[in-house]
Amino acid sequence: MKRIAILTGGGDAPGLNAVIRAVVKTACQEYACEVLGVKDGFDGFITPGGVFPLTLQDVRGILPRGGTILGAANRGNPFARKVLRDGQEVVEDTSVQVIANLRALELDALIVVGGDGTLHIAQELAELNVPVVGVPKTIDNDIGGTEVTFGFDTAVNTATEAIDKLHTTAESHHRVMVLELMGRDAGFITLHAGLAGGADIILIPEIPFRYETLYQKVEDRKQRGSPFSIVAVAEGAHPAGESVVVARAGDSVYVPRLGGIGQAVAEHIAAACRVETRVTVLGHLQRGGSPTPFDRVLATRLGAAAVRLADAGGFGRMVAINGGRITDLPLSEALAVPRRVDPHGDTVRTARGLGICLGD
Ligand code: F6P
Repeated sequence: MKRIAILTGGGDAPGLNAVIRAVVKTACQEYACEVLGVKDGFDGFITPGGVFPLTLQDVRGILPRGGTILGAANRGNPFARKVLRDGQEVVEDTSVQVIANLRALELDALIVVGGDGTLHIAQELAELNVPVVGVPKTIDNDIGGTEVTFGFDTAVNTATEAIDKLHTTAESHHRVMVLELMGRDAGFITLHAGLAGGADIILIPEIPFRYETLYQKVEDRKQRGSPFSIVAVAEGAHPAGESVVVARAGDSVYVPRLGGIGQAVAEHIAAACRVETRVTVLGHLQRGGSPTPFDRVLATRLGAAAVRLADAGGFGRMVAINGGRITDLPLSEALAVPRRVDPHGDTVRTARGLGICLGD
């Protein structure tokens, strides 16, 4: 193995720089292999100066840094790249150009670090014989084939800290504080932060809720001398019978996202329970900041494993962690079934046992 490249795509997650560092260090030191960095996801293959050497010097000091030194473009799907033309968002297929430029670099492997969307692109490229190795990344923890993704632990920490802070002000003012959290169609961040922060109500997409159940919980707490409540609601949570369309990274790259389910929950509770409610949308704070030690270690192990997998010719595959051990599996298998919270699993059962309202 003489030359590999690495890119990061889709929404960023704390730990991306730890992966980049591990790839460069392992490739340079263990395999004497040159590493190229690709800027802004797949866009780097079609923009001038988008591919450049990545040296040991370049990755010095980046381990604790959030974000990605390589950048990550939301519109950069080479098969359907979104661009503005005459003020209109149009989609163009740049895959032929991307693949031609990629082949000209004579790479032994391309390491693609990404979530669901980026890894699907990686799989398409692998089917076109591009030597791709995938590394799963997302704060949402929603990728199949791996028991956890890096970025998730940091996001849960940030969300838990927010719940802790909301608790004190909720109690002082006898209010119901609603915290809307990310996760797209998965409720992992909300469930874990809700448990860690001692939320009274946890609403996740995997368990559709009924407003009456929420009112009942708020009233019960009032009766028992706690005239305040904390509601952790996932952005993809929805009342039974209704669905919520959650914006996906790259869906509408030129349009800002506006208020969501947190606002609706707060308005309903205020009207039905005659209590003051306030909403906090934690948003992209969950994607920023320094990765936790857990995420740093996981990202480092996955980055190093990706280099080893590339050297072994494991193309079209994704590194993963299962039972605490590093494994790998075909990208197609990992992407076939997204990970979701098991509504009958131990974590949900534990929450119910503690008296937390899941809204159903
Ligand atoms: O997939 C990560 C994530 O942060 C989701 O939790 C969220 O729905 C989405 O990305 C937000 O995307 P964007 O950065 O495009 O606003």
